[in-house]
Amino acid sequence: MRGEVEISGAKNAAVAIIPAALMVNGVCRIENMPQISDTEMLLTILSHLGSKIRYINKSTVEIDSTSVNFSDAPFNLMRKIRASYYLIGAMLGRFGIAKTTMPGGCNFGARPIDQHIKGMEALGANVEVRNGFVYAEANDGRLHGARIYLDKVSVGATMNIILAAVLAQGRTIIENAAREPHIVDLANFLNSMGADIRGAGTDTVKVNGVESLHGGSYSIIPDQIEAGTYMVAAAATCGDVMVKNVIPKHLECITAKLRETGTIVQEYEDCVIVKGTSFVRRANIKTLPYPGFPTDMQPQMAVLLTQANGTSVITEGIYDNRYKYVNELRKMGACIDVDGRVAIIEGGTALTGAPVAACDLRAGAAMVIAGLCAIGRTEIEDVKYIERGYENFVEKLRALGADITAVNLPDMPENQENVNQAG
Ligand code: EPU
Repeated sequence: MRGEVEISGAKNAAVAIIPAALMVNGVCRIENMPQISDTEMLLTILSHLGSKIRYINKSTVEIDSTSVNFSDAPFNLMRKIRASYYLIGAMLGRFGIAKTTMPGGCNFGARPIDQHIKGMEALGANVEVRNGFVYAEANDGRLHGARIYLDKVSVGATMNIILAAVLAQGRTIIENAAREPHIVDLANFLNSMGADIRGAGTDTVKVNGVESLHGGSYSIIPDQIEAGTYMVAAAATCGDVMVKNVIPKHLECITAKLRETGTIVQEYEDCVIVKGTSFVRRANIKTLPYPGFPTDMQPQMAVLLTQANGTSVITEGIYDNRYKYVNELRKMGACIDVDGRVAIIEGGTALTGAPVAACDLRAGAAMVIAGLCAIGRTEIEDVKYIERGYENFVEKLRALGADITAVNLPDMPENQENVNQAG
């Protein structure tokens, strides 16, 4: 692959910022909004709740939630995405009451939301999970600040508690908080609308509650994982790709690991140039919370390591079961053994095209990279839902010289469940 690719706004920031806009009295103008179905679903949910949504151009959207009232949201949409859990914090902040479904999302084993609930309860909400729904209500109409120690470093719980605490009375302190760039982005968005959040990006976040939030303009950071995916695709295809509109600091862990494999990565102010080598060196990876190597890049890196000069070991540090895609890669000739959270990848395997399935969002991206490296033709089921997290994936890859086509097949009943696999 050769050429330039422009990275879109960060999915995992956008999916928290849209619910955050529900708490704002006034117009939020949000730039660099990725056009992916996760964000579209959340905007639809907000619109059902009474927010006025207006697209200024393809990546700029205005949300005006001034006149929203508490009402039932479209539960069928909430169930389809992981990020619907942010509506618990945002609705509690805005209305003092929330009703949502339990979140959907990629199936990587159990993905509980106990830390979110613990946080809401500490802030003074009564939370009940019943028949697949989450009901939450502030005991006396408004939440109150509290000190919360997260038992697990959780991106979702950190952001959800920030959301709930912004309009609470008094000060909230979140300890053992996650430190991902999208947490800083959510805090920056809320602060630009009048919130008082300090320490986002460290493991202690302090939120001083304010009476209300006002409108404003904000631009979402570039997507770290989308950028990393193109970087790995360039490395795996022995390509030469300029990945534009990135924050190289956010990519450091991916850059470092790619360099270990012998890939050349040149960093500039807002872009990186990645040059692959035909001699990929083996590497070991352990996925960890930020600033460690991101679990959302694990399947893509596994594909690159199938091309390495030796055996590599991946240890998944976040999820119990994020190796379902390995069966699909084996159909293409990959030699990978999985034992619990550890995958042992034998390098130097020539991949060959085969019909495979995208098991989830990032696994889907990994199958595309495998297809680009493979000899022959690879057919991947459900490219459509890969695009839930990658804006114009097929178009961007084609512009880099990839021979890839999205084929629209008629909706088949057995595919309906796949909508439950984003984030
Ligand atoms: N966990 C708990 N209890 C909780 C929350 C989390 O036990 O209350 C556990 C999880 O089961 C997991 C670990 O803690 O083992 C970390 O989960 P985290 O809460 O950080 O993940 P998440 O908020 O559910 C977000 C992203 C994921 C990304 C993870 C980790 C969104 C919508 N999703 O999920 O993104 O893998 O953080 O970085 O932001 C993706 O984009 O493909 C994706 C899966």
